[in-house]
Amino acid sequence: RRRIGVLTAGGDSPGLNAAIRGLGKAAIGRHGMEVIGFRDGIRGLAENRHIPLDSTALSGILTVGGTILGTSRDKPHKMRVGDEVVDMVPTIVENYEKDRLEALVCIGGGGTAKNAQRLAKAGLNIIHLPKTIDNDIAHTDTSFGFSTALGIATDAIDRLHSTAHSHHRIIVVEIMGHKAGWLALGSGIAGGADIILLPEIPYTLESVAASIQARAARGHSFSVVAIAEGARDLVRSADLAAAETLVKGAGTPEAKAAARTHLQTVLASHRSNAFDLAEALEQATGLESRVTVLGYVQRGGTPDAQDRLLGTLLGGAGADLIAEGTFGVTVASQGQAAVPVPLSEVAGNLKTVPLDHPWIAAARAVGTGLGD
Ligand code: F6P
Repeated sequence: RRRIGVLTAGGDSPGLNAAIRGLGKAAIGRHGMEVIGFRDGIRGLAENRHIPLDSTALSGILTVGGTILGTSRDKPHKMRVGDEVVDMVPTIVENYEKDRLEALVCIGGGGTAKNAQRLAKAGLNIIHLPKTIDNDIAHTDTSFGFSTALGIATDAIDRLHSTAHSHHRIIVVEIMGHKAGWLALGSGIAGGADIILLPEIPYTLESVAASIQARAARGHSFSVVAIAEGARDLVRSADLAAAETLVKGAGTPEAKAAARTHLQTVLASHRSNAFDLAEALEQATGLESRVTVLGYVQRGGTPDAQDRLLGTLLGGAGADLIAEGTFGVTVASQGQAAVPVPLSEVAGNLKTVPLDHPWIAAARAVGTGLGD
């Protein structure tokens, strides 16, 4: 029997189990394949830990949050093994052959696309399914996980309005999204945040404080500020850009290593962005300020209808692509269709919010401050 493997990698996300189920059911039912699932992402692949995904294992998981397979952020070419960092790609190739796999489906976000591309280059037949609450995968309209997270973050902003309004406070709410502003922008608009700060638009403290003061002058003595975790003020953005340029320009491996260390320091010193901002706003406006970091709440729990649909659709399409022998692709969602896009065009290609995106225009149209 034709045999395929599947793994989930990167951060957990709503819709992962829907995708595993969609893939598995189509592979077994439509194409007569056998499916095994690797535990804990790339680590389980390197350690050859897997479980059979038969119809019993695939049953009753559609609505379950997280991933029944477990996940990790391990990289195949740089995996920590004891005290060492080891290139596990040759071992993975060996396991793939030993397990008699015809294809491996890697379900994950941007990091997983890069790892999947590495494995494809090593000769494995790879299919990548785009999952992430960040919605930052190139060539796919939406990744599964985003819709549920959008709903959760919107609900949180709704609820934060109660306290902001009742106590006449500024509430700074930090929203995930890695280096992209999709989640903060979408939930900020849907939740009616007064100011939305994105990685794509560096903000100035003066502009944010002025928006809050203008609201207060109109009788609204409270404000909800939705800030993406990757958002930075102008000064910090310049610091970061300079540090990134140093990394790119470094000639020798030693210079590159030193530049990377510097970049990490710059990033680390900018981590408590939301807290710094709240403190600065309190000083600038005289309004009491508080911070809420939504964190993992955004990726937890049962997927919404959109993510169940998308996971099922892309999973089934993945099985069909394997059956017809198409490999080395991301199964992208474009319009209503599942479209194979070469992994080489997806890996390492982050989809941030374009400044001319209709969501940006929509936010400005309702008077939302964007910090610029
Ligand atoms: O990619 C999903 C995500 O939740 C990002 O929004 C966030 O930057 C990151 O993962 C957090 O990573 P970790 O799960 O390792 O804390």
